[in-house]
Amino acid sequence: MGIEGQRPRVLVVGQGAREHAIVWKLAQSARQPQLYAAPGNPGIAELADVLSLNASDHGAIVRFCAEKGVDLVVIGPEQPLAEGLADALAEAGIPVFGPTRSAAQLEASKAFSKRVMEEAGVPTARHRTFADLDEARAYVRAQGAPIVVKADGLAAGKGVVVAQTVAEAEAALEDMLVGGRFGASGRRVVIEEFMEGVELSLMYFVDAHTAVPMLPARDFKRLLDGDRGPNTGGMGAFSPVPRVTGDVIDQVTQSIVQPTLARLRDMGVVYRGVLYAGLMLTAEGPKVVEFNCRFGDPETEVVLPLFAGDLLEVMWAVAHDRLDPAMVTWHAHAAVCVVMASSGYPASSEAGTPIELPGALPDGVTVFHAGTRRGESDRLETAGGRVLTVTAVAPDIPAAVDRAYSAVASIHFSGAQYRRDIAHNWQS
Ligand code: AMP
Ligand code: GLY
Repeated sequence: MGIEGQRPRVLVVGQGAREHAIVWKLAQSARQPQLYAAPGNPGIAELADVLSLNASDHGAIVRFCAEKGVDLVVIGPEQPLAEGLADALAEAGIPVFGPTRSAAQLEASKAFSKRVMEEAGVPTARHRTFADLDEARAYVRAQGAPIVVKADGLAAGKGVVVAQTVAEAEAALEDMLVGGRFGASGRRVVIEEFMEGVELSLMYFVDAHTAVPMLPARDFKRLLDGDRGPNTGGMGAFSPVPRVTGDVIDQVTQSIVQPTLARLRDMGVVYRGVLYAGLMLTAEGPKVVEFNCRFGDPETEVVLPLFAGDLLEVMWAVAHDRLDPAMVTWHAHAAVCVVMASSGYPASSEAGTPIELPGALPDGVTVFHAGTRRGESDRLETAGGRVLTVTAVAPDIPAAVDRAYSAVASIHFSGAQYRRDIAHNWQS
């Protein structure tokens, strides 16, 4: 392996709690990597050199990697992947963990991912794509409610309306197609059949030949307790999911992930990185809600703390098409995370509010930073919607819930919002 005998240099692109968890896990690698992050955040800065590089400035990132002799770049968020940062790095001969622009279409364009699924025979919700309001309206009226309306492009997890009535669906269509909500991402909409069931997030490490599942997780997308309120980027998660057995995972691998990757290969698209399958466990078996082309947030903050392998080893192997399932092993514990968001999230966010963190955290608790920054006199303050992800690892889910919430109770910032019921349904 190419990274033996040196301290590898690894650059992580991104600035959320997901990237903090990735950097935190990479820092535990036996290879003791020299870590960089662009742009990172104050939590990441405790583990890596943070660079004021913009993820959209591919030229600057490639130049930095060439100058520093960076051995591996890990791209966290979907936006730089959809913009082709992995392609730019690969062209410059820099190993990269994360799919190319064409592979990232699986997330960046719902119309593309639906077409791939259809051609691969992968179970998903029946759907139609529209750019015209009148045609979309007529379709909704013919289908009836409940029905799901989605912006076609990237919308940070917020471009989905699960409409309980036809009127609600029509309002969403107007918002997206005429009102300009979600900008260019909403100029086309996908209208989907409502699927009934329990949701599941299952992420895979994927290289040209192999796909290896991680532990299953469930996330909580709605803002408020009892799954009420608007969809957010995610307010908490837990892993593993007791009712999701190895059989269910094998079924997803065989009926969903393998056929999707095979179809992409037939199209000349090789997938490398994380493939995230957002699933609905329906009475007819698992169906795809969405694919993401990267680690989930906040799922990563519960799945990586349970990972027992060497993340650098795995990411390096993926970048070089040498992924081996034996590299992917897990601790027999459970993890729960609670996201603390700033006042106004998800419609708006508040910056500049001071954050008080306790001097010591309970055993098994890690606080991952998302929207934080250093203000005057180095004071830690809020800088975005999702501010912190508080993760607890414990022998079982109820113990992890207790630990996570006792840590949350010791963290303060004005206007903090968080759900009180994360993992309440862990047995279902
Ligand atoms: P997405 O961003 O596509 O994952 O959608 C956000 C959330 O909306 C999902 O996690 C589901 O809870 C819900 N959702 C999306 N599509 C459907 C569907 N076809 N049927 C039922 N619920 C859905
Ligand atoms: N937690 C859902 C996502 O990362 O898209």
